[in-house]
Amino acid sequence: GEYHYHEFVVQESPVKRLCKAHNRIFVNGQFPGPTLEVTDGDTLEVKVTNKAIYNVTIHWHGVRQFRTAWADGPEFVTQCPIRPGESYTYRFTVLGQIGTLWWHAHSSWLRATVYGALIIHPKGDYPFKKPDREIPILLGEWWDRNPIDVVRNATRFGAAPDTSDAFTINGQPGDFYNCSSKDTTVFPVKSGETNLLRFINAALNTELFVAIAKHKMTVVGADASYDKPFETSVLMLGPGQTTDVLVTFDKNKGSYYLAAQAYSSAQGVPFDNTTTTAIIDYDTETTKRGKNSKLPAFPKLPAFNDTPTATKFAQSFRSLETVKLPEPVNENLFFTVGLGLFNCQPGQKCGGPNGTRFTASINNVSFVLPSNFSILQAHYHRVPGVFTTDFPAVPPVQFDYTAQNVSRSLWQPVPGTKIYKLKYGSVVQVVLQGTSIFAAESHPIHLHGNDFYILGQGFGNFNPQKDTKKFNLVDPPLRNTVTVPVNGWAVIRWVADNPGVWLMHCHLDAHITWGLAMVFSVEDGIGELETLEPPPNDLPLC
Ligand code: C2O
Repeated sequence: GEYHYHEFVVQESPVKRLCKAHNRIFVNGQFPGPTLEVTDGDTLEVKVTNKAIYNVTIHWHGVRQFRTAWADGPEFVTQCPIRPGESYTYRFTVLGQIGTLWWHAHSSWLRATVYGALIIHPKGDYPFKKPDREIPILLGEWWDRNPIDVVRNATRFGAAPDTSDAFTINGQPGDFYNCSSKDTTVFPVKSGETNLLRFINAALNTELFVAIAKHKMTVVGADASYDKPFETSVLMLGPGQTTDVLVTFDKNKGSYYLAAQAYSSAQGVPFDNTTTTAIIDYDTETTKRGKNSKLPAFPKLPAFNDTPTATKFAQSFRSLETVKLPEPVNENLFFTVGLGLFNCQPGQKCGGPNGTRFTASINNVSFVLPSNFSILQAHYHRVPGVFTTDFPAVPPVQFDYTAQNVSRSLWQPVPGTKIYKLKYGSVVQVVLQGTSIFAAESHPIHLHGNDFYILGQGFGNFNPQKDTKKFNLVDPPLRNTVTVPVNGWAVIRWVADNPGVWLMHCHLDAHITWGLAMVFSVEDGIGELETLEPPPNDLPLC
């Protein structure tokens, strides 16, 4: 493959949004950040220089980082953060993943403004007719307040962080927000062309429905993996997820809204109910935007709480080819994922419901990042005391996980830096069971360093007898992020063939902040290509 070198300077730059002037952290002054384009098999080298006042790391979301865990990026997991004034060069090869991935900051809430697309072209042809153009479409969230302050204030009191002030498409809120319409993102299109739209949900805390007025979409892949094409009028992307869509622009002229708004699975939880828009414009070459007197046509979007539509969409994915599933399963794990509450300690300020603090956990462990070592450094150099290896394979107590108002004495999350050890090459299957103990909500669960097959998704408590029979063992989709439906479950399977340590977490930043995360470690194998490469010389230390 080819070799690509890029420099990312992380720096505060001035920006205007929603009628106000702000300073925000961007990469190379761009928002969204630079789009990286490679071909399958290419190697990327990105030198990241931190000229901001905050620590930063960059994560290459979905890139397998085979044998290069040092380049994965989550702070205190695979590296210590890059401190202000310092740099670190991420080196990795993208292999066997084709489609759309992305990159984002993986420290505090910096990814609100530090993100961009990572596009991987096939070496040969697409499995569909070559699109006339390719358009990255990054959905995001905008806060009027500095997102770092938003999360710091919330964590100080254990409260829920404020919702964002706008959703965005390629950095712009669009026509329905104050002072935004003259900057609305416009996608010029040509009548008769078929374009590949590469959607990325880079929002921090919101699952989003997306639709285009009067145009059908054909989904052809997601998370850099091809799928059997299917038609849809609406997409739903959880934070972290990408979806590749073909659209044929079959009108002669006019303009049409592309719009996104929240899918909110939780009952009674405040959310941002506004709509972000961009304009698909057939007339860019003949008319200037603004002189267009006719309003663009608006698409039909599902109601904010339309779980049936969100779930039907998620269940429409089938991998393009028949899959040879890894078996037999060596590790049968059952992980609960959900929110909870900590009791307030004397002298602590608590901003959660009834004087508690919000928390979140997997199998009742609320994940705590180390602060003086990265987990990967400790794993590689066998440094004791940074983590323990007693992450539980199954929940400590069993009950009706989808029931609400379960006694909190049954389910009192315990903070800890616990990891689950995997032997090289083991086949791992995890039932991800959503809990509704405190609040029933869907969770986009993301695994670093590995793609997994989604064997099934459903509602209620996972029932091994009944639900196993409904698994898709023929053409399950390959993903790095799976939505665990509200009051439901998802089952994933992969081979632990990538040595290192790999974070698994809910991609809602509010939830990862509360501890909805855990780490797998994978020991080296025996073969030369089964071992983690040694750490780079410029790896940041704590
Ligand atoms: Cu896209 Cu750990 O994240």
